[in-house]
Amino acid sequence: MNLFDVYPLFDINIVKGKGCHVWDDKGQEYLDLYGGHAVISVGHAHPKYVKAISEQVAQLGFYSNSVINTLQRELAAKLGKASGYDDYSLFLINSGAEANENALKLASFYNNRRRVVSFKKSFHGRTSAAVRVTDIPKYVAPVNEGLDVTFVELNDINAVRAELAKGDVSSVIIEGIQGIGGIQVPNDQFMRDLRALCTETNTVLILDEIQSGYGRSGKFFAHQYAGIKPDIITVAKGICNGFPMSGLLISPMFTPVYGQLGTTFGGNHLGCAGAIAVLDIIEEEKMIENAAKVGEFLLAELKKLPIKEVRGRGLMIGLEFEQPIKEIRTKLLFEQKVFTGVAGTNTIRLLPPLCLTMDDAKEFIKRFKACL
Ligand SMILES: Cc1ncc(COP(=O)(O)O)c(C=O)c1O
Repeated sequence: MNLFDVYPLFDINIVKGKGCHVWDDKGQEYLDLYGGHAVISVGHAHPKYVKAISEQVAQLGFYSNSVINTLQRELAAKLGKASGYDDYSLFLINSGAEANENALKLASFYNNRRRVVSFKKSFHGRTSAAVRVTDIPKYVAPVNEGLDVTFVELNDINAVRAELAKGDVSSVIIEGIQGIGGIQVPNDQFMRDLRALCTETNTVLILDEIQSGYGRSGKFFAHQYAGIKPDIITVAKGICNGFPMSGLLISPMFTPVYGQLGTTFGGNHLGCAGAIAVLDIIEEEKMIENAAKVGEFLLAELKKLPIKEVRGRGLMIGLEFEQPIKEIRTKLLFEQKVFTGVAGTNTIRLLPPLCLTMDDAKEFIKRFKACL
């Protein structure tokens, strides 16, 4: 059987990882400024994470959500404390899209409305509702077109106000920092005004922190720069350092109803053990502080280079060029042995593990300069 060919692949077979470095099957080492698409939070093969996952799978990898799972409770308590959302509840599923799907549903169950406001250049996943609130028409199949969505410009509070005034909007969904849209950081005042408007109109504010959360921005959540509290926060990617897992942090204003949400695999024992280890490592090794410090250094150094615009917070950085970046990125990978991400044709995305050291960052700058 062949693989369904939907990914344009680099001819590289990555077989090993350690910290912020990966190796291919020929033994070639690469500096990882991509983190497997913002997924590797605490670094590849962190010993504490490996131990937690290995011991758990030897004990019990999975049992169903029909029995008590104390690991879920331990994870919820730790996540509440680490993120500052102690009073919220946690619902666990398996992927980012699934998290947003559940968030949109929960919002609609809550206020019994149907329309959603989303933002231009947004990306929220590939399942039906998640892809419908994504502003990339080629990802939306006819079967996904049912949900009523209005896209407005990021930071345009008047446009949001005009939509919410109509009284039929169930939720507004927004990324903490737009990722695939090219690392677009929403304005802090806009976020505060958005929070106020949602409260006034009983519209649910959903913060998609799937890429920007879990310490990547230099705070636990990117929206915390604006000092606001959303009604639902979605998390995935970094939550379990590569093991598929996602979650919803749900405000106390929602009352749970048996059967309204559910999943077979979500919150399984193996994932919870890994996710607990991730939070422990983030705290013990001060990885959020590290993301803030190393990110600040990278941003300052990159701003000195001939790049049209450098955007971002912490270790979520976009480098927009006047010209397509294909050549620079290819040189980076094949000549300088550095993995990076992209957003559109003109923007390079840096999404390294949160343990990126100052030496790694300096090395990256050196190799990057060699490609300009
Ligand atoms: C902001 C954001 N939301 C949702 C998703 C979808 O996550 P998944 O691919 O795990 O479904 C992504 C993935 O890139 C993302 O960046």
